[in-house]
Amino acid sequence: MKLQNDLLLRAAQGENVERTPVWLMRQAGRILPEYRAIRNSISGFKELVETPELACEVTIQPVDILEVDAAIIFSDILVIPEAMGLPYQLIEKQGPYFENTVKTLSDVEQLRIADPEESLKYVTDAIRLTKNELNGRVPLIGFAGAPWTIFSYMIEGQGTKTFAKAKKMLYTNPELSHRLLGMITESTIAYLKAQVAAGVDLIQLFDSWAGVLSREQYLEFALPYISKICDAVDTVPKTVFAKGAYYVRKELGMLNCQAIGLDWNMDIEESRALIGQNMTLQGNLDPCLLYSDKSTIKAATKKMLNTFGATKHIANLGHGLYPDTNPDHVKYFIETVKEHKF
Ligand code: CP3
Repeated sequence: MKLQNDLLLRAAQGENVERTPVWLMRQAGRILPEYRAIRNSISGFKELVETPELACEVTIQPVDILEVDAAIIFSDILVIPEAMGLPYQLIEKQGPYFENTVKTLSDVEQLRIADPEESLKYVTDAIRLTKNELNGRVPLIGFAGAPWTIFSYMIEGQGTKTFAKAKKMLYTNPELSHRLLGMITESTIAYLKAQVAAGVDLIQLFDSWAGVLSREQYLEFALPYISKICDAVDTVPKTVFAKGAYYVRKELGMLNCQAIGLDWNMDIEESRALIGQNMTLQGNLDPCLLYSDKSTIKAATKKMLNTFGATKHIANLGHGLYPDTNPDHVKYFIETVKEHKF
């Protein structure tokens, strides 16, 4: 089906656009009272993720309410470890938790490569349903975690500040690490191909914990796997968002993808110079800026837009929205992007 609003896809492919497209990481979620109402009426987060009708409904909420230029399928990066054999829970006010983690090579050997047909059908069903409901209004973004970020949850079992256990595994057991990262990569390729077959228009890879690795570790244990995924999934545009990976921006610019996400610490002009002229850049307003008053939001957003320029930019935040952000301020950010004249 032809899209009525294809600004995101055109910007991702480097084409000229009438205005800069805008969407927000974590646009579907707790900032919206409409999301909280559904979330509170069911057993929990996983029910939302695993029930296609509900996932579809919360995916479309920000398109209706915030008027963003793209929807992102409501799911989580943690569905991959679960499909490989490590189930997750989401503990209220604490975050993700895995009862079993990977400690030894035999733990790795007991895992499987995810089969999306068998264990992730709830995601592809949600995508098909959402594409139908969107009826071409805006593109639908699919996503997955990058292998290092998924690996870190499978080793740690929960979020941490340092990811020291996961980094220790890279240093002390590179063989196990590469084995597991390879399995995650195979699983992710199968999963993303299934998302594309179900109808997503663009894919984003989230390497949320890139910032804890050293440059050497990133080049050995993270980037080659991202590169393999980019090469294997080649029918839709791809965005790679590696938070905190300022130290490998030049190498990110050489990936076989169309867009690179910048976090709010990455200087826009310096990033453009390092990443090169061919890629589209996405980002990168500090999500905390949305706590300020509207005139501050407007000035910062306009400055950001002018620095990125009129083409090869997708407006977004430098990381996901925080749940206590005022939706009115989020709407104001989106309106400012849409009304901006270069
Ligand atoms: O709108 C969207 O962005 C789409 C949905 C989405 C979710 N998670 C829903 C969610 C996406 C793209 C993700 C990706 C994700 N999940 C990442 C990568 C992006 C990033 O932020 O760096 C990571 C690291 C996770 C792992 C994860 N899932 C964490 C750390 C948490 C707890 C965070 C919190 O704020 O409580 C989750 C749960 C989660 N995933 C929520 C949502 C809306 C909160 C669930 C709730 O209580 O309703």
